[in-house]
Amino acid sequence: MYKIAVIPGDGIGKTVVPEAVRVLESTGLKFDFRYMEVGYEVFKKVGTSVPEEVLSKIKETQACLFGATTTPVGVADYRSAVVTLRKTLDLFANVRPAKSYPIRSSVKDVDLVTVRENTEGLYSGIEFELEDSAFTLRMITRKASERIAKFAFNLAMKRRKKITIVTKANVMRKSCGLFREVSLLVAKDYPEVEVNELFVDVAAMNLVLKPQVFDVILTSNLFGDILSDEAAGLVGGLGLAPSANIGDDYALFEPVHGSAPDIAGKGIANPMAAILSAKMMLNYLGENKWAEQIENAVVIVLREGKYLTPDLGGGSATHEVTEAIIDALEA
Ligand code: NAI
Ligand code: MG
Repeated sequence: MYKIAVIPGDGIGKTVVPEAVRVLESTGLKFDFRYMEVGYEVFKKVGTSVPEEVLSKIKETQACLFGATTTPVGVADYRSAVVTLRKTLDLFANVRPAKSYPIRSSVKDVDLVTVRENTEGLYSGIEFELEDSAFTLRMITRKASERIAKFAFNLAMKRRKKITIVTKANVMRKSCGLFREVSLLVAKDYPEVEVNELFVDVAAMNLVLKPQVFDVILTSNLFGDILSDEAAGLVGGLGLAPSANIGDDYALFEPVHGSAPDIAGKGIANPMAAILSAKMMLNYLGENKWAEQIENAVVIVLREGKYLTPDLGGGSATHEVTEAIIDALEA
């Protein structure tokens, strides 16, 4: 019996997470799903986006399936719920695969993973104002750089053994300089892995021009946020992009997309990103056979093209896509 924290969150998080749960339930594996609430709706009620008691309930579970939360710009004292969870639970590795899918809007032969440092950088939350100036401190530590680099190299060893270290060390000589130095030091322990280096601007361009050359991209927090959305765009968009936030003894799985207020409540959000995130959770739990079958079922539905949500050019509702995936799983 797997104890799983289920946190739908705000907006389409509430639409897509129950769909991922339905797919998990259809496997027949035994889950103890524990539903919890964090996010902007919670903040409006109790003044914090992640209440203490939710945090302790999360800690009693093995993993978390998360939807998305709204982080409105300009609300003082509000901190993103998912950023808080990543930091508090020390989920230091944000893993975002981007793979080609059998749909027209997907570039062919892409199979890459962005490994994004998830606890510091420009997301450190150290910000202040001085008169007419505003500051966001970019903190990079040796410890966090080393563990994310090791994580990325270990992942590369299980894949095509190729890493691209992405920084802007020519400009941010101190912070990116340290990240780069530590990554190259870690690289020495992995002689089999081919190491490349790119500045983030060139990396962004190469992702568009020749995404097929990338295997594992190792980078800091904000660069990883941006490049992984770009990679998602190449292979079908945010409706298809899953992610894992992994720490030493806990992990949280969530679609890359946000709460999508423009389509929230309409029942047309693509559930595939959340379902593929649940698939990554099964890999984490060691249920690799089911993980593979779920991914295959998603691919079958994409290839058939009969049940697709509007973001992929189809006319189906969220639940119809899920039902097609469950049918493919049971076929
Ligand atoms: P978003 O990812 O919510 O939406 C961007 C665009 O993609 C929208 O047009 C949306 O309709 C579309 N889209 C996203 N997911 C989709 C899906 N599953 N199916 C079909 N279309 C989909 O990003 P946006 O609009 O920048 O942010 C909205 C809110 O979400 C903000 O408050 C933001 O802070 C928050 N956010 C939360 C994240 C999280 O909880 N991890 C991540 C990103 C944003
Ligand atoms: Mg993002």
